[in-house]
Amino acid sequence: MRIKTGIEGFDELVQGGLLSDRVYLVSGPPGSGKTTFCVQYLAHGAALGETGLYVTLLESPQNIIDDMSNYSMNVLTLIKMKKLLFADLGPRMEYGFMDEMSEYITPEYEVSASAGEHEAPSPAIVFKEIAAYVSEYDVKRLVIDSVSAIRFTTRDLSLQEKEMSRFIRNLKKLGCTTILISEMTDPSAYSTEQFAAHGVVFMHNFLYDKTMTRALQIIKMRGTKHDCNMRAVNFGDKGLVINGLLE
Ligand SMILES: Nc1ncnc2c1ncn2[C@@H]1O[C@H](COP(=O)(O)OP(=O)(O)O)[C@@H](O)[C@H]1O
Ligand SMILES: [Mg+2]
Repeated sequence: MRIKTGIEGFDELVQGGLLSDRVYLVSGPPGSGKTTFCVQYLAHGAALGETGLYVTLLESPQNIIDDMSNYSMNVLTLIKMKKLLFADLGPRMEYGFMDEMSEYITPEYEVSASAGEHEAPSPAIVFKEIAAYVSEYDVKRLVIDSVSAIRFTTRDLSLQEKEMSRFIRNLKKLGCTTILISEMTDPSAYSTEQFAAHGVVFMHNFLYDKTMTRALQIIKMRGTKHDCNMRAVNFGDKGLVINGLLE
């Protein structure tokens, strides 16, 4: 089954949408639009009745909610309807974080206690917490922002790779269609996440002729005939809009 992202100009590049129950990777440098892409994906599903969960490991959910409230994605309404959930699994919980949205965002987290106050959680802890959410709220669309912020329990690179691929294999069994965000500046620097994911989308953000240029490129998408070109990315009322080939 194809899951529509609802992002204008994207679904037609991948035969109508993402294949369900798979794990995708959206990677790119800061400011390239990864968060916007993923919130649009969740908001679109939420509006169709599919519960979406956005897991943050670095940023506070409140910052993301504030930024996305600029767009007409109805983020606040979807949060209030509990169709769009935000969970902060980061190392520093904002205890005493009180404002309008706080009751809709997970207030406290065991994760922080078990992972140590200033350390990022390990893949195993992150997975356990996410799995609990998925079953409690019947989550269908999942986003993890970002896998770059997960702490490995070993310094051995090959063991880290095993840990990451186990994490991704476990995610594949959750019954959600998942997008992992990874902070990356080099599209050819292959990582375990890229190998293990069913599909990889790269968001470019670079200076060209004195202007910042944003573009999206589908690097791989298993089981799908897809576009491989760099497509111009613009911002519209509802978030990103994927346009024609980059000149
Ligand atoms: N209306 C808008 N609201 C918020 N950000 C916008 C808007 N229009 C353009 N932007 C740009 O989008 C960027 C945020 O993209 P984001 O999805 O957070 O990127 P990433 O997650 O890759 O860092 C901002 O830094 C800003 O340059
Ligand atoms: Mg981001």
